[in-house]
Amino acid sequence: MDESNCRVYACVNQKGGVAKTVTSANLGIGLARRGHNVLIVDLDSQANQTVSLGWRQPDELPVTIATQLLKVVEKKPFDPMAGILRHAESVHLMPSSIELSGLEMRMVNAMSREFVLRSYLKGVKPHYDAIVLDCPPTLGMMTINALAAADRVIVPVQPEYLSVIGMTQLFDTVALVKSEINPGLQIEGVLITLANMRTNLARNTLDIIHKAYGGSVRIFPNPIPYATKVKEASAEGGGTRWPTHRGKHSRCQENRALSLTCSPRRPSATRISRSG
Ligand SMILES: Nc1ncnc2c1ncn2[C@@H]1O[C@H](COP(=O)(O)OP(=O)(O)OP(=O)(O)O)[C@@H](O)[C@H]1O
Ligand SMILES: [Mg+2]
Repeated sequence: MDESNCRVYACVNQKGGVAKTVTSANLGIGLARRGHNVLIVDLDSQANQTVSLGWRQPDELPVTIATQLLKVVEKKPFDPMAGILRHAESVHLMPSSIELSGLEMRMVNAMSREFVLRSYLKGVKPHYDAIVLDCPPTLGMMTINALAAADRVIVPVQPEYLSVIGMTQLFDTVALVKSEINPGLQIEGVLITLANMRTNLARNTLDIIHKAYGGSVRIFPNPIPYATKVKEASAEGGGTRWPTHRGKHSRCQENRALSLTCSPRRPSATRISRSG
């Protein structure tokens, strides 16, 4: 990959609704609170990350990740920092919009189609210590681009049987990308999310995950519990301030746990300006 000191994390699972978006935000905000310059990239045409961080009309944003990736595909000049939004929690966001779904189809026929995102990120990496890629719930072209551009993969998994079924396919895809196009790619770990550990189902499924994958992949020790407050925060659209309630399962604690677990590099000496 390139020489920059920036680490790129991809939150990936083709299963929908397993907390990829919430995990990406928690990781990004957690790292930002520890002093790192962080960019979250919304790679999902649903634009859930964009909306939940407070930009409720993503289709009205003049520049999104779709705009930038199209420039790469068309080999046109562009300013890589254009369109990046500043959130009050000191993370930056490259937003998404529905336009991304059209672009994904366009990318299928592009030259070097797996490297479009990587080319774009090359221009922004010098400004950040960490970039978090919030992937869509597919193993399609956008997720392959994310895996081609990432250093580390975080796999959020809900402890349910249906979630476990897709894990082998996901790990096979990561292994393929690693062997074919991105040798530096590593799985940082499996993060158990939306867990109600009081149920037998969750405990049994966690057991299955440990037995099947624990020998080859790190499984983060603390499952993220199901917390109504998180659900409520998403429903409220996040706003410009991230919830800071201090309950047992607060997002602050999740931010902290995840950001401590994901060994980022030192905060850079030159910090970019921050605004809300
Ligand atoms: N710890 C939690 N407790 C309760 N609800 C949660 C928790 N984490 C996430 N959720 C909720 O679960 C839903 C799915 O989360 P999220 O959008 O992060 O999943 P996703 O994997 O990104 O989904 P998609 O595959 O559609 O992109 C959201 O409504 C979110 O608010
Ligand atoms: Mg999502």
